[in-house]
Amino acid sequence: MHETILIIDYGSQYTQLIARRLRELNVFCIVYPYHKISMRLIGKLKPSGIILSGGPNSVLDRDAPKLNNFILKLSIPILGICYGLQLICSHLGGKIHKSKSREYGYALISIFKKSSLLTGLKKNNNQVWMSHGDHVVKIPNEFEITSKSNNNLISSIENKKNKIFGLQFHPEVFHTKQGKRILYNFLFKVYQLKLQLKNKAVICGLSGGVDSSVTAYLLNKAIGKNLYCIFVDHGLLRKNESKEVTKIFIKKFKKNFIKVDASKLFIKKLLNISDPEKKRKIIGKTFIEVFEKESKKIKNVNYLAQGTLYPDVIESVSFFGGPTAKIKSHHNVAGLPKKMKLKIIEPLRELFKDEVRQVGKKLKLSSTLLNRHPFPGPGLAIRIPGKIDNDKIRLLQEVDDVYISYLKEKKLYDKIWQAFAVLLPVKSVGVMGDERTYNYCVALRAVTSVDGMTADFYMFKQNDFNELSSRIINTIKGVNRVMYDFTSKPPGTIEWE
Ligand code: XMP
Repeated sequence: MHETILIIDYGSQYTQLIARRLRELNVFCIVYPYHKISMRLIGKLKPSGIILSGGPNSVLDRDAPKLNNFILKLSIPILGICYGLQLICSHLGGKIHKSKSREYGYALISIFKKSSLLTGLKKNNNQVWMSHGDHVVKIPNEFEITSKSNNNLISSIENKKNKIFGLQFHPEVFHTKQGKRILYNFLFKVYQLKLQLKNKAVICGLSGGVDSSVTAYLLNKAIGKNLYCIFVDHGLLRKNESKEVTKIFIKKFKKNFIKVDASKLFIKKLLNISDPEKKRKIIGKTFIEVFEKESKKIKNVNYLAQGTLYPDVIESVSFFGGPTAKIKSHHNVAGLPKKMKLKIIEPLRELFKDEVRQVGKKLKLSSTLLNRHPFPGPGLAIRIPGKIDNDKIRLLQEVDDVYISYLKEKKLYDKIWQAFAVLLPVKSVGVMGDERTYNYCVALRAVTSVDGMTADFYMFKQNDFNELSSRIINTIKGVNRVMYDFTSKPPGTIEWE
């Protein structure tokens, strides 16, 4: 089966050149004149993307060729070239003006805004080929200008969310130096995901953290009901987290949200393990085992989606094959077993946390979800140095809950990038109500950061320290000493293991 790109011809001299370039990129395409386009035809062709060609007319003329309204609502990537761009603009509420003189031939454009379509171009002075008499003066809502020509005319726009792109210049002609690269970007980068996943079911490891939530929302947009979200309760979550996550996501994904209680399995496998790397590897492997088992219950599953971010990758393996040192095995990267039956997709793999939050905002995730502090996949396992058992987990859950509730109550939560407690494998002597105690010590950590790659410790006021310490010790039996971690990253990492 071919993936088909439909080229709608508005009479450009260069329409066949577009087709030729696509063929050079090994993509099957078909050209139809604009007046032959109907819903029925689109239903028959089932194109994966549409290109609107240039043309000799002006959209300002009354009898200019039109764009069928339904085209822009198909939810597939659309690229308008020259007249095609102007059609998109005028249909969606932008404004086109007649240029004083037609602009032909050589022009230079500079990138205005990062765009997947323009990946591979230089920041400034990219040679392109223009051939137009009208130009865009106002872009439609929800679009962004991604490049401008050196005489300050808009040369490309895009609506990232709906994957609608427009170029004022002609990428298909030889003299647009990076034109083929732009077409390549449109074809492969932009809807790669869609092609890859068509008719295939994907399971997504959903933890309720920002990264996996954004991944799930993104995939839900691309493949809808073919996405199954699996939430694994590994027994190392925060207090009430399992219930809260279930409540939020069952609303969004309904039957496609699957909760698996694997806490007994995880805790059993972690028993007597103290080495941080071993813990991480065991957790990664068990996660995959659980996913594979669950995936067998769903028809046609080939993929596992993960919310892996760039810092997870760079700190686990060398991203570009270079000599970057390995710091720790993030459970979802190097923790994976070598022989995986499911193929992995990681749409956020090249992004940093702050960029992921921006994507999440566009996808309309609630601010509570978006602004949650990061929580590592291995959960509380890497916040309990040494051996883990159920009592320690419960104790840490209580401490963490008192700590985080305090931050929320005092409106400090959003000022801090990440805060958590660590249960130390140390007991100390104390005196409470004239009695001797011999209980655990906990360390509190709070850091500021932008992307998690570097971080500084957050400095509380004296009265916050006082109140935190006494709240924790007075309300939680089993803890009699509270420490604060004054270490930045580097030299420390954010988590303790
Ligand atoms: P470190 O401790 O490496 O952490 O300074 C940087 C950020 O990454 C989070 N983290 C993880 N996230 N899986 C994740 O999904 C992991 O294995 C993992 N380890 C650390 C950590 O919480 C911090 O925000």
